[in-house]
Amino acid sequence: MARIDLDLAHAYRPDPKEDADYALLPLKMSFEDGGAYALLGPSGCGKTTMLNIVSGLLRPSHGTVRFDGRDVTALTPQQRNIAQVFQFPVIYDTMTVAENLAFPLRNRGVPADRIKARVGRIAEMLELNGQLNQRAAGLSADAKQKISLGRGLVREDVSAVLFDEPLTVIDPHLKWQLRRKLKQIHQELKLTLVYVTHDQVEALTFADRIVVMTRGRAVQVGTAGELFERPSHRFVGHFIGSPGMNFLPAALEEGGGLSVAGQPVAGAVDAVTGAALSRAEPFALGIRPEYVELEDIGEGGASPARPGTITGTVAQVQDIGTYWLVTAQAGPHTLKARLSAHARPPAPGASIALRVLNPHTCFYGADEQLIAAATVAAAQEGLA
Ligand SMILES: Nc1ncnc2c1ncn2[C@@H]1O[C@H](COP(=O)(O)OP(=O)(O)OP(=O)(O)O)[C@@H](O)[C@H]1O
Ligand SMILES: [Mg+2]
Repeated sequence: MARIDLDLAHAYRPDPKEDADYALLPLKMSFEDGGAYALLGPSGCGKTTMLNIVSGLLRPSHGTVRFDGRDVTALTPQQRNIAQVFQFPVIYDTMTVAENLAFPLRNRGVPADRIKARVGRIAEMLELNGQLNQRAAGLSADAKQKISLGRGLVREDVSAVLFDEPLTVIDPHLKWQLRRKLKQIHQELKLTLVYVTHDQVEALTFADRIVVMTRGRAVQVGTAGELFERPSHRFVGHFIGSPGMNFLPAALEEGGGLSVAGQPVAGAVDAVTGAALSRAEPFALGIRPEYVELEDIGEGGASPARPGTITGTVAQVQDIGTYWLVTAQAGPHTLKARLSAHARPPAPGASIALRVLNPHTCFYGADEQLIAAATVAAAQEGLA
């Protein structure tokens, strides 16, 4: 196993000039020894490019890859000692399941008793032990991909195991099981794993740390909790979560008060947040649908403004089964709120107060980066 440090950029075309010419913009990041990572982002953001650079299938056009401090940029996947699992099964149809699993070990001259033990263990973990003596040719696509996963995991001495959307061909129910299984296997085997996916649920269930990517940039590396609570970039707020984070235009008023979606908000942000915001205008307020609190304020919304809130009207209420999804309008701005299935949602057309300022609130600058997270005066007064 190895710690992997990247300090590089990659352009497939020679002589790149603009950002758009790079599949990976300059980045510096590390994968800790024994960690389980997911590379998460939409199609074309550079996930496979990064994975292939780590494995050595692709040499970066700029910069270096280090394993445990050693420069491996010019080395092949074999020399780097990498195992890689692809989207589609890579197995030998004429061999049995056991022979397929044993192959990477035989290749390395591992003693027969050691091979037997290891193949047995991996087969058991992946629930392939009933099929060990069958030929791979006759097996379903699911089983074949399980063999590919097993071949990736069978060696103990690899620097890392890399997966590129390995569950694409797997049936949805089994997919869920295998995700959990991979997580369990990681906990037992303590291999360094890097897993590419565009599915946030897959990334969140599998990985300890998630690298969120967009347009050739790794915009945040964090735990599921960090990505949810403190997205460091608007893209992360929008991409993680269901639905994603709400963003509303915000500004500081004379005297330090805050206005959101054109409405003054009572309960000012604290001095430190205020100072950070004053240097960053224009900025946006971000709040997740889970953290927007609603209150019906009756016809015309005449009741006095509550701290941390703006007013709006309910446009739509959807029953999602495990929660209510309320879509509200505050002037021209749309805001989504998730309410517990046990709550009584307001009726469409109702005037509501929407609390958008609480300890979960984040602020983003014009460059889409997080400026500050709200430690909010209103929240400290016990109103959150
Ligand atoms: N061999 C190649 N030659 C030229 N451009 C490439 C090559 N491979 C990928 N690209 C481009 O580099 C960018 C990143 O591609 P990459 O395959 O890394 O994305 P990805 O995140 O893995 O996407 P997907 O989810 O669709 O697999 C894309 O714009 C893609 O068109
Ligand atoms: Mg890809």
